[in-house]
Amino acid sequence: MQSLERLLREAVCSGQPRTHRPWKKIMIMVEGIYSMEGSVVCLPDIVALKKKYKAYLYLDEAHSIGAVGPTGRGVTELFGLDTSDIDVMMGTFTKSFGAAGGYIAGKKELVDYLRSHSHSAVYASAMSPPVTEQILRAMKCIMGLDGTTVGKLPEPLVTQPLSCLQQMFPAFSFSLCLSLSLCLSLSLCSSLHALKLHPYSL
Ligand SMILES: Cc1ncc(COP(=O)(O)O)c(C=O)c1O
Repeated sequence: MQSLERLLREAVCSGQPRTHRPWKKIMIMVEGIYSMEGSVVCLPDIVALKKKYKAYLYLDEAHSIGAVGPTGRGVTELFGLDTSDIDVMMGTFTKSFGAAGGYIAGKKELVDYLRSHSHSAVYASAMSPPVTEQILRAMKCIMGLDGTTVGKLPEPLVTQPLSCLQQMFPAFSFSLCLSLSLCLSLSLCSSLHALKLHPYSL
């Protein structure tokens, strides 16, 4: 966080490298959850910095949407933050939703601009109905609106991930990197084990 603040201060004070003209926009880009070790972004601190330096904030929720927050709405819900503090909210529908495509959410001007200018909106074909249906069903399931508990993660996997994984895969020996999220980083004793576990990973 200190290093980010140093960068922001430098960008505001010194401007562009050669001309030293002030930057028109300074954007902070972060992920909700970083997949390699499952670390969760400290979003409240990032939002405070964004406000202090009048920067813009882009949040990539590829690994956090559908995965954290009481109803799966990602890191803003996890930290109880106002989504209007995030300028660009982006996520994929591949991971938690098991579908395809993704989304960008933000203020109406931003979404209208993307609709009329982005390559995918102008030239590509629209999302197919089966994919859309898969996303909607997965959303309902994750939010617990489908009348089942299928979308809830099994409690032991949340509270005791290591013993739970050892029970699921008794033939493998691994250690687990401590993580606040459910992106679990496993260290396996051989690459052969990694190949055998691969079908179970997302
Ligand atoms: C941080 C991040 N953003 C976006 C994506 C894009 O995801 P996809 O290509 O599955 O839509 C990924 C994929 O792993 C990712 O790690």
